Amino acid sequence: MNILILGGGGREHALAWAVKQNPKCDRLIVAPGNAGIAALAECADLDILDGAAVVSFCEENAVDFVIVGPEAPLAAGVADATRAAGLLTFGPGAAAARLEASKAFTKEICDACGAPTAGYARFTDAAAARAYVQAQGAPLVIKADGLAAGKGVIMGMTEAEALAGIDEIFGGAFGAAGAEVVIEEFMAGEEASFFVLCDGVNALPIGTAQDHKRVGDGDTGPNTGGMGAYSPAPVLTEAIQQQAMEEIVLPTIAEMARRGTPYQGVLYAGLMIENGRARLVEYNCRFGDPETQVLMLRLGAQALDLLLACAEGRLDRARVNWAEDHALTVVMAAKGYPGAYQKGTVIHGLGRLPEDSRHMCFHAGTAGKDGQIVANGGRVLNITARGDTLADARNRAYAMIDHLHWPEGFCRSDIGWRAL
Ligand code: AMP
Ligand code: GLY
Repeated sequence: MNILILGGGGREHALAWAVKQNPKCDRLIVAPGNAGIAALAECADLDILDGAAVVSFCEENAVDFVIVGPEAPLAAGVADATRAAGLLTFGPGAAAARLEASKAFTKEICDACGAPTAGYARFTDAAAARAYVQAQGAPLVIKADGLAAGKGVIMGMTEAEALAGIDEIFGGAFGAAGAEVVIEEFMAGEEASFFVLCDGVNALPIGTAQDHKRVGDGDTGPNTGGMGAYSPAPVLTEAIQQQAMEEIVLPTIAEMARRGTPYQGVLYAGLMIENGRARLVEYNCRFGDPETQVLMLRLGAQALDLLLACAEGRLDRARVNWAEDHALTVVMAAKGYPGAYQKGTVIHGLGRLPEDSRHMCFHAGTAGKDGQIVANGGRVLNITARGDTLADARNRAYAMIDHLHWPEGFCRSDIGWRAL
């Protein structure tokens, strides 16, 4: 079959790598792709936020299956457009993608189905929000309702920080995404990610992971999109996964179906685990980045069969073949990230990296220039390895980094520390 993947980061490189190994895949196109993806698939220049453009591209290229990577096209209704055109599609429509695109909507769903999550209140008015903070006292978590590229959450560990967060969001720092503010109870505990495929009715867990959001070693410094990840997440035991399915994921998909907006795609549940129980922090309507890189290295070619079963509504008959393995990815970023950084610096040594079922360098933000690979973003490479133990996976990943020569780049030296 001919397959189109929308997106151009490390997540899409990992999806493309897994899909490409499955003999069902004849032709693979990724839009827009990147320099790493170009080594295994055709890259196409296409406005992935424009549903009509994606549908015509699929018709012109006889695409049989569309996999949507990032949240922006999902929130913009691209999966609605492709499904309406009769194309087999992986990813929720805009109404179901609100589970990521609106934090207030997710809270409403949790209330309706009884899923455990932080207590909250919502506001469209700064004075009322400030009064609530003064009445409750810190710590509180202040969130812009809409999509804010991962930046719309402010931890109010003191009352002053919480009030400043309210002023920032209502002051327009996140544009329309900040028209409404959700204020949440602060949840203590350990965070982990749970990935569940949903076909509208059935749900199939496909793995757990943990990422490192802070830029510096020891989980210090500013927040980033993720500096590394590993799978599985030891804190998400079988028992807690089962509790999260029964109390959070299954009630959510039942509530979405009841409302006439069934959820089809991957439901990425961010969970807070405390005293052996999970509570929902947030939902994402897409795969995590860089969590997908470790999930795909573990799943390999069967990932395509699972995504197809999801899109075709037959997850009740699908199953995951697990190996007792571990995967870990280290993000290499351009110096300065998550602040200002340089683009266009040359990365040397990529050709020396092993590429096999245990080692893969996924490209997150690269471009080809005069026969060389240059950095083209903040997060640039995802050095990913698989081993029999987490320590083995970690050692393999860091050994790969030793082959690289990229003075303008950096990475954390302690990915996986919490689980090791
Ligand atoms: P979100 O975009 O909602 O996932 O928030 C980003 C990060 O903020 C999460 O990954 C958590 O680390 C943290 N966070 C969000 N909500 C809460 C909460 N209610 N209690 C504690 N930490 C939170
Ligand atoms: N790594 C966090 C995310 O994809 O949202």
